[in-house]
Amino acid sequence: MRVLVLNGPNLGRLGRRQPEIYGTTTHAELVELCVAWGADLGLEVEVRQTNHEGVMVDWLNEAADDRTPVVLNAAAWTHYSYAVLDACAQLEAPLVEVHLSDPKQRPEEFRHHSVVTAYAVEVVAGHGVDGYRMALEVLARG
Ligand code: DQA
Repeated sequence: MRVLVLNGPNLGRLGRRQPEIYGTTTHAELVELCVAWGADLGLEVEVRQTNHEGVMVDWLNEAADDRTPVVLNAAAWTHYSYAVLDACAQLEAPLVEVHLSDPKQRPEEFRHHSVVTAYAVEVVAGHGVDGYRMALEVLARG
């Protein structure tokens, strides 16, 4: 089974971006981890990151067309992007929402709402990069 892991804005700077919140693993390392975890679970994992909302919508539309399961960390778009919401609503294969931090436990009120959750089979938050492994496990379980 093929799985797309899609990461939104600012996640390309993982490892250097607020490591006290997001950890020290870089995005390149996260890609390697996800591919290896996927292989262990019998999944063919492709990881992508973009800072551009339209690109993310295109990727989600591609996943809808191909009925590809998705692990999505929409980053800040999680909290306000109705374009991402509409794209998630079109997915037919399972979507797992993932966050490195736990946005609901963070002080900024704007992080407490997610436009993605309604379309997700599960939300994994607050487990750092391990959360991606947990999200892949959810998809592998079917
Ligand atoms: C995040 C949490 C979001 O609130 C934030 O905007 C991000 C990353 C996380 O993985 O913890 O960019 O999705």
